[in-house]
Amino acid sequence: MGVVAVCHNRKKTAPMKLKVGLTKACALIQGASRGIGLALVDELLKSNTDQLVIATCRNPRSSDGLKSLMENYGERLKVFPLDPTVESSTIKVAEMLSKQSTSIELLVNCTGILHDSKLRPEKRIDDINIENLIELFKVNSISAMLAIKHLRKFLLRDSRSVIVNLSARVGSISDNCLGGWYGYRSSKAALNQLTKTLSIELQRNLPLNVCVALHPGTVDTQLSQPFQSAIPKEKIFTTQTAARQILDVISKLNSTDTGSFIAWDGSKIPW
Ligand SMILES: NC(=O)c1ccc[n+]([C@@H]2O[C@H](COP(=O)([O-])OP(=O)(O)OC[C@H]3O[C@@H](n4cnc5c(N)ncnc54)[C@H](OP(=O)(O)O)[C@@H]3O)[C@@H](O)[C@H]2O)c1
Repeated sequence: MGVVAVCHNRKKTAPMKLKVGLTKACALIQGASRGIGLALVDELLKSNTDQLVIATCRNPRSSDGLKSLMENYGERLKVFPLDPTVESSTIKVAEMLSKQSTSIELLVNCTGILHDSKLRPEKRIDDINIENLIELFKVNSISAMLAIKHLRKFLLRDSRSVIVNLSARVGSISDNCLGGWYGYRSSKAALNQLTKTLSIELQRNLPLNVCVALHPGTVDTQLSQPFQSAIPKEKIFTTQTAARQILDVISKLNSTDTGSFIAWDGSKIPW
């Protein structure tokens, strides 16, 4: 995808085409080792025959999914190591991107944590733990902002660019009827506020940018697995279905959507 400026030469009738700026626009998927991020990389590679896809994750070597996509797609897929919770790591990726002479058309932040070996979603106030809360905010809210802070200079300026931060419906304050999951809910609510705030700033410098928080639905991944028993099977999306739905929503976004919280089916979610 090239950026082309048309300059009319007064003496001749035919317009002169001047190539300016960067020559390729890529999609960059952050947190792509597994789950929804990996499925997005797969779908983008399948559906768009010439777009460069950049996948980042903490340990590329340990992702069999990314390794197999690299074997199948060669130069169309670049994989960079990135720990989105470490600012210097994002700066390194920005330096690598400069060498690629590429601009970004789509940036999706997929990083998220609900549980790990030490961390379980809180059922009650007694479960509140300072280290866990800090970890949840670092991974679920702050990491996306660090990525955008250092990568926004690569966003397309002369045509639409899209930033999607994967959020969760449980981050909606007005939709909270069940309680529990203090840390996950509030870190996603914080991500939503950060996304809205960012969208306002970006509108000033990048009026063609669309920046949204997006709920992917309940998706069969490592993140949701321990909590799936309460959900009817037909309401749980495969990662492939989720990725297709997300890309479909993204394809329909326009500048009036910037700063909103959107679900997998394109409907708006109340804050
Ligand atoms: N699955 C669902 O039902 C569901 C529902 C609503 C919202 N979401 C959101 O969708 C996004 C993707 O989730 P998923 O379901 O695909 O989950 P997943 O398979 O567990 O993937 C989560 C991603 O987050 C990154 N990550 C996890 N812990 C991290 C940490 N401590 N530091 C840095 N990065 C970390 C991993 O990145 P690496 O690639 O670097 O390993 C991984 O790729 C998340 O933001 C999640 O909150 C999911």
